[in-house]
Amino acid sequence: EADILKNLPLKNKKILITAGPTYEALDPVRFIGNHSSGKMGFEIAKAAASLGAEVIIVTGPTHQKAEHSLIQVIPVVSAQDMYEAVHQHFNFVDVAILSAAVADYRPKEVSQSKIKKKGETLTLELEKTKDILASLGAIKTKQILVGFALETDNELENAKGKLKKKNLDLIVLNSLKDKGAGFKKDTNKVTIIDKNNNINAYQLKSKAEVARDILSVITQKLNA
Ligand code: CTP
Ligand code: CA
Repeated sequence: EADILKNLPLKNKKILITAGPTYEALDPVRFIGNHSSGKMGFEIAKAAASLGAEVIIVTGPTHQKAEHSLIQVIPVVSAQDMYEAVHQHFNFVDVAILSAAVADYRPKEVSQSKIKKKGETLTLELEKTKDILASLGAIKTKQILVGFALETDNELENAKGKLKKKNLDLIVLNSLKDKGAGFKKDTNKVTIIDKNNNINAYQLKSKAEVARDILSVITQKLNA
């Protein structure tokens, strides 16, 4: 009994995760998207479930699968869809981990019919999407809120800036400098920073191992 409980440190905890890209429609057949595979978020979901957590993963379009009785998958398409799904569940969770690569901008107008080829150039007007993570930081009560930061320059400073601005408990900085890390890859090199400025830099590892590192930091915070 004691052993089983020890092996399921996230038993009775609810974790909300976002994953994948978002697609922002331009017309009925086109969208603006990005290359996020959804892999990191799904690895976190699987690792959390294996530690006993009840997981809800809100995911943009992806080929990833999570077949586990403790994982509920909610597929969405756009940043706005993701915002709405996340807000339906946030009040009921202990932890939220936002790993999705959400579009920062979307077409200001979505054409109802297919845009026809005309002039030599085409200009699109884009408008900002809602920042899902920041919106949770503004309303959180007891939840542990975890964000990701994808940076190329001034990595640590930018990540710390996002942690503070979005009122997070932890931010996972993704180092794009390493060739093995990031989008489409099976490995990641991360640095985890908490709101007390404790900084932990990890080696390049599989995303499954990175997921366990992230959840181990979260478990410590839950038990503190
Ligand atoms: N994020 C979000 N909603 C958005 C944009 C970002 O929830 N509309 C979340 C991401 O899931 C990630 C974190 O915010 O956890 C940081 O995303 P990132 O793109 O690194 O930062 P931004 O704040 O969007 O700033 P920028 O892209 O200019 O670096
Ligand atoms: Ca962004």
